[in-house]
Amino acid sequence: MATKEKTVFFCKSCGNESPKWFGKCPACGEWNTCTEEKVTEKLKVRSEELGVRSGATPIKEITNAEEQRIVLPFEELNRVLGGGLVLGSLVLVGGEPGIGKSTLLLQTALQLNRKILYISGEESQTQIKMRADRVGIRNENCLILTETDTKEILRHFKEVQPDVVIVDSIQTLSSPYVDATAGTVTQIRETAAEMNKLAKSYQVPVFLIGHITKDGSIAGPKILEHIVDTVLQFEGDRHYGFRILRTIKNRFGSASELGIFEMNASGLREVTNPSEFLLSQRDEEVSGIAIAATMEGQRPMLIETQALVSTAAYGTPQRSATGFDTRRMNMLLAVLEKRAGFRLNLKDVFLNIAGGIRSDDPALDLSVVAAVLSSNADIPIDNRYCFAAEVGLSGEIRAVTRIEARIAEADKLGFTKIFISKYNAKGLNPGRFHIEVVPVATVYDLATELFG
Ligand code: TYD
Ligand code: MG
Repeated sequence: MATKEKTVFFCKSCGNESPKWFGKCPACGEWNTCTEEKVTEKLKVRSEELGVRSGATPIKEITNAEEQRIVLPFEELNRVLGGGLVLGSLVLVGGEPGIGKSTLLLQTALQLNRKILYISGEESQTQIKMRADRVGIRNENCLILTETDTKEILRHFKEVQPDVVIVDSIQTLSSPYVDATAGTVTQIRETAAEMNKLAKSYQVPVFLIGHITKDGSIAGPKILEHIVDTVLQFEGDRHYGFRILRTIKNRFGSASELGIFEMNASGLREVTNPSEFLLSQRDEEVSGIAIAATMEGQRPMLIETQALVSTAAYGTPQRSATGFDTRRMNMLLAVLEKRAGFRLNLKDVFLNIAGGIRSDDPALDLSVVAAVLSSNADIPIDNRYCFAAEVGLSGEIRAVTRIEARIAEADKLGFTKIFISKYNAKGLNPGRFHIEVVPVATVYDLATELFG
């Protein structure tokens, strides 16, 4: 067995490898992410261990595995995976500790009528059983293995022959083929590559759970992005009950899908009508609130934008946005100032997308502008109005994609008016909807329409 040893420096954030120490990663630009690792590679054993030989195959004989998908019990999970779990795929589920990654995958395993191997390096079997009792067991074929050594895992895998493998978490795995502690860049790369080989050789889908920490103190999922087929991110505020599962990358479907779950006492529950969930319940009308008809992936969703405009207490006004790009907000404020004559330069402006949602759909622009104007004038907007358009630098209201889907969703939810770009209104048949479609041309027009 050939061995060689060298010292290398890795970036903990992106996995960039360098022969020298660095303060700022030359690849991703992050500071203080350098970590020193000794790498001993014992070459050329892994494939033999798996018991598979590589070989060239005529293309017409290759079966189309992409079409073979396992339909999972959670519709929201199927959605973010692009319509089910593809055989032989490696799926990374990333998220901060405590967000519910283990719960999500254990629940999926317990409800899916297949043989599952759940490998945990984090919790004991008893702990997992306790969690399983909490969420309710329905699958007798879910096997729990507490193991971190990949060679052992492979042995169990061959013995059990599961239909789906879940690894909780990639940071706890260690491969005997490289000489580094678990959780280091070297180990994460190696063990993920081994899991990928396993998935591809046996055509069994593998889920990898990966922790992300805000300060990047654990070498994390970014290193894996190019190895795995699909990256899902589980996010949400621990103070809110609900969680968002977002597709970051997907070789087998759209990368802009979104699934919504709610965490309660007996595990996660899917939220199938997110719009109703995301609109805050309010009886009285308050100023500074506007509803946007957005698209998240293939799905239309109505979300609430909230703005607070107040006179700056100090010389420099404060501007802050949660769930929305701050630079984009500043641009919209500049447009209002310059093109519509609203004096906002001495005002503090706070913007928030309700429910901890984060969105970069340009169609939010109009709703943000409406919320800011409403708060500035302290005049509420009717809570059955909604908005869907992009705002350009000259204050013009621009068209957005899939306008019919947005209008239809707003219509379905009982909204009475939707404000869109006049360019979107062309070729639209408003007779199809109950909702009144109001085309607007500029931000000035919008202000006149709303507040006279
Ligand atoms: P967990 O799946 O352990 O998170 P992760 O694997 O991402 O670290 O979820 C832990 C949190 O979820 C914990 O704060 C308790 C909460 N929880 C519930 O609220 N209800 C439940 O039924 C379960 C199992 C967990
Ligand atoms: Mg966990």
